[in-house]
Amino acid sequence: MKILFATSEVAPLIKTGGLADVSGALPAALRAIGVDVRVLVPGYSQIMMQLAQYKFEATFNDLPGYPAARLLSGIMPNKVPLFVLDCPSLYQREGGPYQDTAGQDWVDNAQRFGLLSRVAAVLGSNASPLGWRPDLVHCNDWQTGLTPAYLHFAPGASRSIITIHNLAFQGIFPATAVQALHLPNSCFSINGVEFHGNMSFLKAALFYADHITTVSPNYAKEIQQEGLGFGLQGLLTTRSGDLTGILNGIDTDEWNPASDKHLVGHYTSKNMAGKAANKESLQSRFGLNLEPEIPLLGVVSRITEQKGLDLLLEIAPLLTELPVQLAMLGTGDIQMQKTARDLSHLFPGKIGVHIGFSEELSHLIEGGADMFVMPSRFEPCGLNQFYSQRYGTPPIVHATGGLADSVVDCTETTLRDGTASGFMFHGMTADNLISAIRRALKLYHDRNKWIALCKICMSKDFSWESSAKAYREVYIKVLGK
Ligand code: ADP
Ligand code: GLC
Repeated sequence: MKILFATSEVAPLIKTGGLADVSGALPAALRAIGVDVRVLVPGYSQIMMQLAQYKFEATFNDLPGYPAARLLSGIMPNKVPLFVLDCPSLYQREGGPYQDTAGQDWVDNAQRFGLLSRVAAVLGSNASPLGWRPDLVHCNDWQTGLTPAYLHFAPGASRSIITIHNLAFQGIFPATAVQALHLPNSCFSINGVEFHGNMSFLKAALFYADHITTVSPNYAKEIQQEGLGFGLQGLLTTRSGDLTGILNGIDTDEWNPASDKHLVGHYTSKNMAGKAANKESLQSRFGLNLEPEIPLLGVVSRITEQKGLDLLLEIAPLLTELPVQLAMLGTGDIQMQKTARDLSHLFPGKIGVHIGFSEELSHLIEGGADMFVMPSRFEPCGLNQFYSQRYGTPPIVHATGGLADSVVDCTETTLRDGTASGFMFHGMTADNLISAIRRALKLYHDRNKWIALCKICMSKDFSWESSAKAYREVYIKVLGK
């Protein structure tokens, strides 16, 4: 089975969030069970700099609506074959994959990700210049959303599926994009790419793809309802027979407290002593008082309303009265970043904030904090709750999306039967969040029970294996149709 995995980010080459983690790890897990997966990603400056050795594969000089581009191939550090779409005028610039350095969306994103979608579709059709032809193109989020639409109109096209990592981002552009990107006018309809008078990349995929997956079973249900359906609940409900929720896994080599290169102390569930050195290092890096006994809450997140950090910032002053420390790493909303910084100045030694993206600090927080806070308003899957469980740092989470599927609330019963793995609150209010934190703090001081909880967390299996098999089942089902 040959699969082209088209994505706009892939770890460790380029990452803004969980999509990169998934694109880095899932293809490797699929290859391990015999699926020939190759990844396609745009040639951003960050990728071109890291692509030491590559092979030239093809040129695309006459794709209507797009500048000339080249296809290169290389190999990922984890040995997964990689195609890089090289088009310097669209991808090689200073800034992120989606936004410039000032945080504004690139004005030509329709063309940038239109090209990615288009080339993925060419590789999956009779027009492909390559000897290797995928049976199916696996698209991810809106950035590759036009692929199923282009495939629909292409002779000899392969099948396609779309994985929704976050329905809140849909790739909506003015209707004129339909002609500019050379899609037939006929597809600008409710049965096509049209969405409230605009054109939507994600809706295109939800309409034309052979199958839809999303990153947790619970989120698959939530997006068929008003609210978390973000206006697409009707279409998703119509397609519910073709919609599967598959929980993400994690890269257990990259995220392993016994060998993590970013940690100062290594540890296992049998001997957690090394965690103390990480806590000390974390306290010192975040300007927190060097007190080994005080419980330390960690946060690694995009600082946005989706992640519920507004609620955490609101209750932060109250937390400082509890004896507890807070270490927060993230980037995002400018106003919320400022609030976070102000709090760290108001409560020095108790609240430490680092605004920025740091792979190293994110690992140190997982390994050094005592608990991990993730009060997301909605969360398609979430990855940090897995990382924190694996690092014996029980997560405190809102009962939503993949968080509800991957954390078991700690009660007397779940602790006794060995399933407890964190603390969950229902209802997005400050009171509910505080009371979950209080429950965690209470157990923290009951040392034997706390250690039992950490050990259960660390013993859980979050590897990609079973999820990779579930994706393979979806591919088989689609190809059998
Ligand atoms: P999302 O993709 O919605 O942001 P996920 O929990 O799925 O949420 O994935 C986020 C990923 O990005 C995790 O690997 C997390 O550790 C990482 N991450 C988020 N913010 C930062 C940051 N400021 N520095 C380093 N890593 C970060
Ligand atoms: C998105 C979601 C997140 C998910 C990630 C990877 O960024 O917000 O919940 O874990 O994609 O699937």
